[in-house]
Amino acid sequence: MPARHADEVVITCYNGAVMTMLILGVESSCDETAASVVADGRVMLSNVVSSSEQFHKEYGGIVPEIASRKQLEYLLPVFTAALEKAGITPVDLAAVAVAHGPGLIGSLVVGLMGAKAFAYVHNLPLVGVNHLEGHLYANWIRLPDDPRPEPQLPALVLVVSGGHAHMVWMQNHGDYRILGRTRDDAPGEALDKAARLLDLGYPGGPVIDRLGKEGDPKAVAFPRALLPGTHDFSFSGLKTALAQYLRKTEAGGRAPVADIAASFQEAIMTVLVDKLFAAADLLSPARVVLAGGVAANSRLRELAEARAEHEGIPIALPPRVLCTDNAAMVAAAGYFRALREEFSDQALDASASLPLAG
Ligand code: KG4
Ligand code: ZN
Repeated sequence: MPARHADEVVITCYNGAVMTMLILGVESSCDETAASVVADGRVMLSNVVSSSEQFHKEYGGIVPEIASRKQLEYLLPVFTAALEKAGITPVDLAAVAVAHGPGLIGSLVVGLMGAKAFAYVHNLPLVGVNHLEGHLYANWIRLPDDPRPEPQLPALVLVVSGGHAHMVWMQNHGDYRILGRTRDDAPGEALDKAARLLDLGYPGGPVIDRLGKEGDPKAVAFPRALLPGTHDFSFSGLKTALAQYLRKTEAGGRAPVADIAASFQEAIMTVLVDKLFAAADLLSPARVVLAGGVAANSRLRELAEARAEHEGIPIALPPRVLCTDNAAMVAAAGYFRALREEFSDQALDASASLPLAG
């Protein structure tokens, strides 16, 4: 679908003949404050993301108190910028979609309160979206000149982020079954912890991705927890193995940091791809789909695409810019909920551990 300018968009509400539904998405689960206007869940008219990442760097991870204070500071400017960039005013909107969990409770509350106030003032319906559902719907957004068709259902989705690793069976829109999850660390968390041990800064995923390209993935033998017979994951042993390796090589014999990064990354990504395609063999989905911040990883994308081609299973990868937290994905998920008339009221709560499925 070609990108359209807001001027050409026919705006109606969903109770009439719907032609184009513009939704304001709001995302504030962690250290990103984001707002975005998306048409029909697929065409992004604006995508504004403000991050407090720089304020957490010296701590080597997110400080929740700092994150929520920055959410408050950034929220209104981000709302304004998202509308301005889309070239619309609030009357053009059909609904406000907001991620109300899972995430850091202080951060979530700020975005949720902002979304509620905005919806109330402008007399718009509110749609509560699960943050992980948002990640999944990044796959429905088409960037200009993106020739890929949208994912078909049923889809087998691997949602991998800083807080989660979920293997999800998506039978239909809004119909999710969690087949497996991490028993300890999430893959993004493992990468962030590894980067801290290696003094590479925060967040670790993008640095390890970059360094990994220059290193030898076979240089250090890290363990791979395959947990056969389940769709679950485990990554905490890997982090311990890295700590032990660094202790053992303190006196000498340590591989170059790029080799360590490449090997660590390889151990995570090969497990993710092996388990994803093992599940796909059992379930024969119409699409295998990646989602979440770790889906931006070059090596994961490369390995998954190669395996999909080898096995003849169609794969969908979200645009890289929409893998990490953003509000366009929330607006897209909100659109599909609005089509099903799944609206929330002003009593909608934030939940740090909101499950994707019951
Ligand atoms: O989805 P996300 O933005 O936030 C959560 O919902 O957690 O994911 C953030 C995670 C961080 O752990 C970050 O290190 C990781 O995604 N990440 C990456 C890459 N970009 C971000 N991991 C591997 N390779 C990347 N290129
Ligand atoms: Zn996320």
